[in-house]
Amino acid sequence: MEKYQGIIFDLDGVICHTDRYHYLAWKALADRLGICFNEKINNRLRGVSRMESLEIILSNSGQIYTDTEKDKLANEKNENYRRSLAQMTPENLSPEVKGTLDFLRKSGCRLAIGSSSKNAGFILERIGLNGYFDAVVDGNQISHAKPDPEVFRCAARRLGLAPENCLVVEDALVGIEAAVRAGCDAAGMGDARKSSLAKYHLAAFSELKEVCG
Ligand code: G6P
Ligand code: MG
Repeated sequence: MEKYQGIIFDLDGVICHTDRYHYLAWKALADRLGICFNEKINNRLRGVSRMESLEIILSNSGQIYTDTEKDKLANEKNENYRRSLAQMTPENLSPEVKGTLDFLRKSGCRLAIGSSSKNAGFILERIGLNGYFDAVVDGNQISHAKPDPEVFRCAARRLGLAPENCLVVEDALVGIEAAVRAGCDAAGMGDARKSSLAKYHLAAFSELKEVCG
């Protein structure tokens, strides 16, 4: 068992199931445009920035879109997505996740969020975790999205820790790659559980108690 001084969590698909809302909002847009989109393609969007996600979806359209059109499409998706986020309450934070976070904190770990999302602050507020983490680094503060290591390097620095003393928890393959490139260990869950770069493969969030406790 390793003792990590810091744990950096991805947000969408790790702390809460906003990954589902991302999928539904992209699906609505793709359907309206008549573009093929499914869960398999959606897995490629995990951890990827909003505009890069749009590029992946539009690459199946066979059409060229101008930058202005792309901005409009990204806004349409984001407005739809934010309508789902606005419905969230602290009940959308599972007792398993909250209990595990509290356990890790009590055992002396510093806790951070490392997300590509520009909606991270809004989500944390909706689920009652505003001000809970020792550091929050999100898509508003970084120039390079995952798999670039910037977000996790920045989160470790904000925690005042060396990356090698931090564990990153991720559901995105690009997120695991970003963590390893930052010099952190990585725990994969969901779609990233199969990653060979991950040191731990979590079937449930609460398994972090055994990894870090
Ligand atoms: C997270 C999600 C991605 C999403 C990205 C940007 O990394 O896993 O699916 O595209 O954030 O999210 P945003 O809320 O800024 O559109
Ligand atoms: Mg994620």
